[in-house]
Amino acid sequence: MNAIDTAIRAAAADIKLIGVTKAYDAQTVVIPPMDVELRAGEFTVVLGPSGCGKSTLLQMIAGLERVSDGKIMVGGREVQDLEPKRRGCAMVFQNYALYPHMTVFENMAYSLKVAGVRKAERAARVAAVARMLALSDYLTRKPGQLSGGQRQRVAIGRAIVREPNVLLFDEPLSNLDAQLRHDMRVELSELHRRIGATSIFVTHDQVEAMTLADRILILNKGRIEQFDTPKAIYHHPASVFVAKFIGAPPMNILPVTGDGSVLRLADGQIVAEARLTGSYQLGIRPEDIVVGIKADGHAVRAVLRFREDLGSHSVLAADLAGSVIRIATPFGADLINQSELFLNLPAARLHLFDAETGRAICGAFAAQ
Ligand SMILES: Nc1ncnc2c1ncn2[C@@H]1O[C@H](COP(=O)(O)OP(=O)(O)OP(=O)(O)O)[C@@H](O)[C@H]1O
Ligand SMILES: [Mg+2]
Repeated sequence: MNAIDTAIRAAAADIKLIGVTKAYDAQTVVIPPMDVELRAGEFTVVLGPSGCGKSTLLQMIAGLERVSDGKIMVGGREVQDLEPKRRGCAMVFQNYALYPHMTVFENMAYSLKVAGVRKAERAARVAAVARMLALSDYLTRKPGQLSGGQRQRVAIGRAIVREPNVLLFDEPLSNLDAQLRHDMRVELSELHRRIGATSIFVTHDQVEAMTLADRILILNKGRIEQFDTPKAIYHHPASVFVAKFIGAPPMNILPVTGDGSVLRLADGQIVAEARLTGSYQLGIRPEDIVVGIKADGHAVRAVLRFREDLGSHSVLAADLAGSVIRIATPFGADLINQSELFLNLPAARLHLFDAETGRAICGAFAAQ
């Protein structure tokens, strides 16, 4: 680890939001009061649909947007009224925002120059960061002479050269093609392991969320739906919203009714045993459904509509009790002429949600 790695690692800070609110007026409350704690050195991914407040949240932490109410603590220091440059946060944007007329070196050194860092130290710090990001050979080039991935690395370098306590990323990879996104994701993950700065990363991409995050924060209309590890979010979604947001294809949700001993689909077929009465939403992931061609146990009958062959596996879509259900299966070729499918929904893989609120109900099935 070189000097700059050590400096940044030492500076990682925890972040606490206490009742942080953003409202443009009484009708436009973008973030209702939010309380959340991010640990020092943690990599948090913020995931949510367009307009749910992800950028607003990041910009309030960075100081580019004022909070309407509440406190933001970074490393135990109250920062919500401080200027952006005094908060110890650095932000990387989707469009890189590099200065086109400056070289890579000048782009990375600029903020240090503004901060009054001496020339020799500026050169040393930029050289260290450039080495870390494999940019040493490009320092004299202008951004126009770089690939998308190299430009993105310059933008990251420019942010970390200031040795921030906190790194904020707003969809930094969304302008890149699929291969480059993948490569940058791996690099970012590696970079975080080395420097350990507390990082918040906004994305629409659930693969980025699952692979980069220590914890994923899922936002819905400015509210936290769930904040947990990728594993917990995938295996124990706290609501239908979360269940449908993670997974490709997403979790199937089927309306069911309980009579005290079994749960039935809308057409009366029995899907599971459970001592529940009333209406619920039953969830099952496409990859957890077991496909057969003969009825056995509690298998339910569905009618195959189409299948997509993705090479590594197939995704089937079938009509089941008035809903479309998606099934991911490593096979499928032998089912192509088979319009009638029998689907087993293993009890250990079922999720149950409240019919009204969509919140998860735990421990509903004996097998779990
Ligand atoms: N000046 C403003 N006045 C009123 N509403 C605003 C203003 N600026 C942003 N908003 C609203 O705040 C909400 C959150 O915006 P934000 O940019 O944080 O969303 P986002 O989650 O980052 O979305 P995206 O994924 O599209 O980038 C949006 O509904 C937006 O319309
Ligand atoms: Mg945004």
